[in-house]
Amino acid sequence: DGEVYKYYSDGEWRTSSSGKSVAIVNPATRKTQYKVQACTQEEVNKVMEMAKSAQKSWAKTPLWKRAELLHKAAAILKDNKAPIAESLVKEIAKPAKDSVTEVVRSGDLISYCAEEGVRILGEGKFLLSDSFPGNERTKYCLTSKIPLGVVLAIPPFNYPVNLAVSKIAPALIAGNSLVLKPPTQGAVSCLHMVYCFHLAGFPKGLISCITGKGSEIGDFLTMHPAVNCISFTGGDTGISISKKAGMIPLQMELGGKDACIVLEDADLDLVASNIIKGGFSYSGQRCTAVKVVLVIESVADELVEKVKAKVAKLTVGPPEENCDITAVVSESSANFIEGLVMDAKEKGATFCQEYKREGNLIWPLLLDNVRPDMRIAWEEPFGPVLPVLRISSVEEGINHCNASNFGLQGCVFTKDINKAMLISDAMETGTVQINSAPARGPDHFPFQGLKDSGIGSQGVTNSINLMTKVKTTVINLP
Ligand code: G3P
Repeated sequence: DGEVYKYYSDGEWRTSSSGKSVAIVNPATRKTQYKVQACTQEEVNKVMEMAKSAQKSWAKTPLWKRAELLHKAAAILKDNKAPIAESLVKEIAKPAKDSVTEVVRSGDLISYCAEEGVRILGEGKFLLSDSFPGNERTKYCLTSKIPLGVVLAIPPFNYPVNLAVSKIAPALIAGNSLVLKPPTQGAVSCLHMVYCFHLAGFPKGLISCITGKGSEIGDFLTMHPAVNCISFTGGDTGISISKKAGMIPLQMELGGKDACIVLEDADLDLVASNIIKGGFSYSGQRCTAVKVVLVIESVADELVEKVKAKVAKLTVGPPEENCDITAVVSESSANFIEGLVMDAKEKGATFCQEYKREGNLIWPLLLDNVRPDMRIAWEEPFGPVLPVLRISSVEEGINHCNASNFGLQGCVFTKDINKAMLISDAMETGTVQINSAPARGPDHFPFQGLKDSGIGSQGVTNSINLMTKVKTTVINLP
């Protein structure tokens, strides 16, 4: 009970000199499940120092060797999927099966990244000067990609393992060192995952994992002079990190209010199953969840009926039992969701189910006839609550989507591919899915948000490129 998980620094598992710990509350039981070290600023300094020096020799390690170690870590991670998944279940209440999927997907991501890295980092460019006006053929320019240095990775609670490795693997293959600051909920899963990298035999200090309260070490980490790149996934915090960070590349994936635009010719059964998957998987706690349905009035009744029938079949309860809907991550999150629901109720939304909550567990809820004056039309509940806005034209749907501060993904359902393409062009989001719910994966696809949804693009290839810089050497002939 008194056991506190150690943090990882200089290749060793350590206890913080603060003597303090941070409690991780199981969202379902609301009891303290685990404790992690509350690291100090001096411990952060130490980790940064190690990361800086370890990176120098790592950058000189042959690319194929870096790839080999990543493949090894991927295999160890997959072999240990059961205990890691178990901690995901306990600290973020992710259904057991999805927790296993997250770990396996992460192993695949690491391997893919190693393979992609040896290809794209293994080649450079060769340019001749005489292609530019006024030049003779006397300058040969060679380009290659070099690492940035120390990458700081800050993943969110909803995919602590997957969104950590999606930052760690590209950073390492590109020759960077990596400092991981896990989310509090998800910290133990991250520590287990880091243990797999430890077992794979990466050099000391190259990877470290610092735990603690964001309020105590967050700014210190993100503003640390040793950090050469920040890759962050999460909420509004990302906006303040961006404002405070130095002159370094940033990769940010923040919130979303992904719209699902439904045209009258859409296959409504397909739409309904995608709304269920998109809106309610992991209880709606995904940046890419369907967060507002914009349906043409003439098919709205039929669609709402179909979705209602499917909502009725969702199971609600413990993540250990693989229930579809599980407790949301924290009490404050549940309170926030409830606030949005109550606001919609006061303003006259139609409740397709009765609103029900026990602790952090909120039953799935579809809200019909939501109007633009309701908060839920714009805000991100990050819970199993989905608003339906009835629209009289496609333009109205596009306008609603584009009026949002967010611009992560969106989707459109229609059998008319020409219309779908035009709508996709008109939607101001990083990705538009045609005839499927929004999703980040497969993990080698580019993934990016416009507006408040982010900076830079992710996906394996884009992440590797973002974590490198172009270096050129010019040979000058007499
Ligand atoms: O919420 C995090 C975001 O990256 C979603 O990923 O795989 O659920 O689409 P995914």
